[in-house]
Amino acid sequence: MNRVELHVFILLAAGVSLSAQQTSAGPAQPVPLFSQNILNSATPAGNPSTEAKAKLGDMIFDEKRVSVDDSVACNTCHSPRNGFTTHTPTSRGANNQIGKRNAPSILNTVFYKSLFWDGRAATLEEQATMPILNPIEMGQKDPQAVVAKLAAIPDIAEAFQKVFGRPVNWDDMAKALAAFERTRLSTEAPFDRFLKGDQKALNAAQQRGWALFTGKARCASCHTYDAALPLFGDNRFHNTGLAGKQELKELASRATARAAAGNQSEIDKLALESEYSDLGRFLVTRKQEDIGAFKTPFLRDVLLTSPYMHDGSLETLWDVVEFFNQGGGRNPYLDAEMKPLGLSASEVEDLVNFLSALTSDSSSALRAAELDRQRADYLYRMAEQRTGLKASK
Ligand code: HEC
Ligand code: HEC
Repeated sequence: MNRVELHVFILLAAGVSLSAQQTSAGPAQPVPLFSQNILNSATPAGNPSTEAKAKLGDMIFDEKRVSVDDSVACNTCHSPRNGFTTHTPTSRGANNQIGKRNAPSILNTVFYKSLFWDGRAATLEEQATMPILNPIEMGQKDPQAVVAKLAAIPDIAEAFQKVFGRPVNWDDMAKALAAFERTRLSTEAPFDRFLKGDQKALNAAQQRGWALFTGKARCASCHTYDAALPLFGDNRFHNTGLAGKQELKELASRATARAAAGNQSEIDKLALESEYSDLGRFLVTRKQEDIGAFKTPFLRDVLLTSPYMHDGSLETLWDVVEFFNQGGGRNPYLDAEMKPLGLSASEVEDLVNFLSALTSDSSSALRAAELDRQRADYLYRMAEQRTGLKASK
């Protein structure tokens, strides 16, 4: 079977039209999703956001010289063009080293109660310093080296003086990065316009998907819907069974021997570099029930951030919804909420369509094309599996 024949087969087998109904593009000027009051209440008193501080943070975020070999900036792995992430399962850091975890988006991170897939950083300020000193991310050995490099960049040195009234230093650098991240936010999406009463903002599939999300598919039991803060996360940790390939109990006791709870830099290394990565929240708390548990990610703009999950192991939103449809993976620490759902293929399609309606109007140009790309990618792989044939590319 060649590629064209396989494509025809897919279309017939799945009965899906690639020219699915489109949603309206939305207003010309995207509407903010969060009020200033809500943002202020999520910002620590010790680091109020100002425009100049956020702008300095943006400069540092884009600066490759922050890394030991001038090869990666924060935005290498968190690229604004890809919803502040990269379209690779895991990411490549300084000296071409590859880690074990998928880079999450920094959009809306102001609203997480803890950072990283396992919540090992309490604040954005604390988080911001960690990739710089991690050997496989930006590879710097000590803060002084970073401060010296930044101080040698005239624009940055000048901006530090203006914003903080003192020369470049490590703590202010973290504050500026955090202040910048607090300005990276999703805007209103078709879903929000629908809730405000615009019935046409969601097509029929998306409306069915929303009903499934809170009903039969039980997604909202973890991706909670909160009208005041509609991000679809619970700021808690769950084991969805992805980390089932290893003997987790044995791994947990070996990890405990490797690093004491509270040894932050050692835990950071275990999380990113080793097989212990799959232990998730356990690395931080050492509680049995946290083995293999990861933070429930927010779902705003999730269409733009493939591949998915803490290890980047699921390629498209169809793979993710199918994964939940099967009741997740199998392991002894599986969350009690994880059960087979019995969703039909068209219900899976509806759910993915609903997720696409959470794409910010500021990214509306990407919405339809990315949905079609993921659908084609998924159906193509399924057809290959079903026919047992590898298509000639
Ligand atoms: C080499 C790629 C890479 C670089 C460079 C990098 N990150 Fe990350 N980032 C990641 C990965 C991978 C994770 C997830 C790690 C984990 O959860 O254990 C992450 C997680 C985060 C998170 C947590 C998001 C969440 O949902 O909890 C934030 C915030 C973040 N990075 C900001 C930054 C900043 C700021 C910089 C620059 C100082 C930076 N990153 C540099 C790959 C990178
Ligand atoms: C038991 C709690 C729970 C339930 C139920 C649940 N999720 Fe999740 N979801 C999570 C957690 C935790 C992760 C991250 C898991 C990991 O990476 O190991 C996740 C990951 C995801 C992701 C990937 C996001 C990303 O940025 O990588 C999507 C999309 C998603 N869930 C959608 C859904 C949908 C749709 C449903 C319903 C069919 C659902 N979830 C049901 C907890 C849950």
